[in-house]
Amino acid sequence: MKIELLNIHKCFGAIQANRDVSLRVEAGTIHGLLGENGAGKSTLVKILSGFLRCDRGEIRIQGQPVRINSPAAAIRLGIGMLHQDPLDFPSLTVLENFIAGQRLGSTRRESRQQLEQLSEEFGFHLDPEAVTGELTVGERQQLEILRLLSLGISTLILDEPTTGISASQKDLLFAALRRLAEQQKSVIFVSHKLEDVERLCDWVTVMRQGEVVGTLPMNRMNREIPEVLERQLIDWMFGRELLIPERLHPPAVTPDPPLLVLRSLLLSQRHSTLAVPDLAVKAGEVLGLAGLEGSGQRQLLLACAGLLPPLQGQILLRGQEMTGRPYAEYLRQGVGFSPADRLREGLIPGFTLLEHFALRQQDFWVDWALAHQQTQAAIEQFTIRGHPYSRVEQLSGGNQQRSQLALLPSPLTLLLMEHPTRGLDIESSLWVWGQLLQRTQAGTSIIFTSADLEELMHYSDRLLVFSGGQVSRPIPVAELTLARLGQMIGGKLQERDPYSIP
Ligand SMILES: Nc1ncnc2c1ncn2[C@@H]1O[C@H](COP(=O)(O)OP(=O)(O)OP(=O)(O)O)[C@@H](O)[C@H]1O
Ligand SMILES: [Mg+2]
Repeated sequence: MKIELLNIHKCFGAIQANRDVSLRVEAGTIHGLLGENGAGKSTLVKILSGFLRCDRGEIRIQGQPVRINSPAAAIRLGIGMLHQDPLDFPSLTVLENFIAGQRLGSTRRESRQQLEQLSEEFGFHLDPEAVTGELTVGERQQLEILRLLSLGISTLILDEPTTGISASQKDLLFAALRRLAEQQKSVIFVSHKLEDVERLCDWVTVMRQGEVVGTLPMNRMNREIPEVLERQLIDWMFGRELLIPERLHPPAVTPDPPLLVLRSLLLSQRHSTLAVPDLAVKAGEVLGLAGLEGSGQRQLLLACAGLLPPLQGQILLRGQEMTGRPYAEYLRQGVGFSPADRLREGLIPGFTLLEHFALRQQDFWVDWALAHQQTQAAIEQFTIRGHPYSRVEQLSGGNQQRSQLALLPSPLTLLLMEHPTRGLDIESSLWVWGQLLQRTQAGTSIIFTSADLEELMHYSDRLLVFSGGQVSRPIPVAELTLARLGQMIGGKLQERDPYSIP
């Protein structure tokens, strides 16, 4: 289905999120939408899928002007959108979610058959009776795609679909999207990741500060000169070249006791337990946790933050016994935790940036003048696109991440981070790591998880690999290659492997 967006304008108060944006998507193509954080990508696709209304502009389908006043209206016109956060009902089964929103008239058995048939067609393996909340992010995404397809959509929009899913799920997703294009459906793929767009898309459009900067075909000729293309796209996205921060040498060995020591740690993990190898983390060291989502990395971070009491073993901070102490005690020792789910655990929806800084004072009487001053300073230092009275849920994904970083206490001795750059554009990711590495120079140790193997390899001194219910010994990054790391994550840790379980 051919889709045209013509001269779309959209303001949120003083912020012009879309300014005179035009975009044309041909039937049977995959169209990438790239752009920095806050560029206006989500706003544009929300307008097309009926979640937002534009102030001005026109939408045409197959050349005919249409009005899209609600998500249901969009679906009737054949346009469906997959949001970054699943919109399904976690407590229902896969089949129940699949049926939700479907036209009346088909029986449960027919729906089940349809679900199985679609699953089969796209190579997804979804159990109709499984509880949706227990699926991985990738599987919930598969379910949502099938549900939208069963509603008869012919244009599928995906807003940053590759964050939080495994490499094999990404392969499946891409194969499914190509299949849709072969069936003459259109796909709009919003992303920050150049390599994903290069691998998948037929066309790419770049947005910057609410406007379209340019559109390029990603034909074979272009694919043969990836560096040239990449430079062009980065130039469009940011208006300049980017510098990659260097991982400075690991801090010199100091005679001090290590910052963090883990001894014979046993953690509870879903229905089983996870044994963590003995570990000593030096001040200023960066330790990466690699592995598929849900392999226990989060449990280790929570334990180190005092948020998950270990079943057995000891946690020492600067030689001091911390096992079983409350979270507040860890905070006092300078331990900071930055969770992946910004809006559920990190920031408080409905609260403004200013109120977040006020809350940080943890005092009965809030010093509003001070909070205001801190908020202004953070907005400048972290270049947050927003003002003190912006509610956090109204900030773009990248600006939420910046805010969360700005709210971390300082100084810190140990910083625990889940996916520090998830959802960030390339420039912001580099900037975040610049900030983090500065902290390590001042002696802060960092333990972080990431689904991005290159990020893990580039910034860590050592890595722990979580795989098949086990954790490897700490591996110096210099002894690893990207390929080997991928194997260790995907496959099993072998018996004879020098890094296997102690
Ligand atoms: N509901 C809203 N209320 C106020 N401002 C908003 C709202 N939604 C978006 N904005 C603002 O509009 C601008 C564009 O946001 P949008 O979410 O479209 O960006 P994006 O390109 O998707 O960014 P990201 O890559 O970080 O997700 C941002 O400055 C954002 O803060
Ligand atoms: Mg967005």
